[in-house]
Amino acid sequence: MSIRHTPITPALGATIEGVDLAHLGPSEFRELYEVWQRHHVIVLRDQRLTNQAFEDFSAMLGELDPPPNQGAGRKSVPGHPNLYVVSNRKNAGGEPLGALGDGEASWHTDMSYLERPPFASMLWSVELPSTGGDTWFASMPAALRSMPADLVARISRLGIKHDGTYDSGGNVRKGVVPNDDPRQSVGTVHPIVITQPETGEPTLYLGRRRNAWIAGLSVDESERLLNIIWSYATADPVTLRHQWRVGDVVLWNNLTTMHRRDAFPPTEFRTLHRSQIKGRYVPSAPVRQEAA
Ligand SMILES: [Fe+2]
Repeated sequence: MSIRHTPITPALGATIEGVDLAHLGPSEFRELYEVWQRHHVIVLRDQRLTNQAFEDFSAMLGELDPPPNQGAGRKSVPGHPNLYVVSNRKNAGGEPLGALGDGEASWHTDMSYLERPPFASMLWSVELPSTGGDTWFASMPAALRSMPADLVARISRLGIKHDGTYDSGGNVRKGVVPNDDPRQSVGTVHPIVITQPETGEPTLYLGRRRNAWIAGLSVDESERLLNIIWSYATADPVTLRHQWRVGDVVLWNNLTTMHRRDAFPPTEFRTLHRSQIKGRYVPSAPVRQEAA
């Protein structure tokens, strides 16, 4: 039996129907994986999962990455140390039960300041506010295709520093000294243009805007070029907006997409469980044919 999928926009995203992630056979998994590789983000509605079933499906994609250890400790799902709680709920003592609160999160890819960043991330929605909290995705291959050839040629020779100082909510990461000089801050330089390692598709790989720096340029020159790159990377035609329903599972390729989140009312609750697949690849530039 074939799975059914419908593209969400021409640039990225596919909704998959008729699949129960709690009972997924190997051939269905292979088809789902192939749709995900082509569309970068897949959305599965109405999933009736337990934490165990969500973790089991996540593990079919690879070894799981435990949640980051933040200032307030690891925000794991009780009994599931590999699952991360993204929530604004607090316990009776006022201690956050999850990460990221209720604020906006700016465009980013997850943990791209690592040499070997996570390949995939997945969210499962458990409870939602009446408004706000939408998650947006941007297609980095489509953004690259939309650029003029001279800009592509220029950035294909350059690397970008992926800063590890701040998280997507603007908070300083645990154990890191605040530093707003992107040349000096902690992080890793990756090529701006890489290939999706499993398909060979060329894609931008940008990380996040704050404290980004194009290695070797003056900060002013880097900022000017980054603003141009970001105008393509976040343009409407390459983005999609996901409006959550309870039971949604959204899986994204962390090397070919960026995502961001809208704020939502602090008087309401939003809880999602997240899994992340450990990095399998070092982001690498396409092999270029040098002119003779
Ligand atoms: Fe994220």
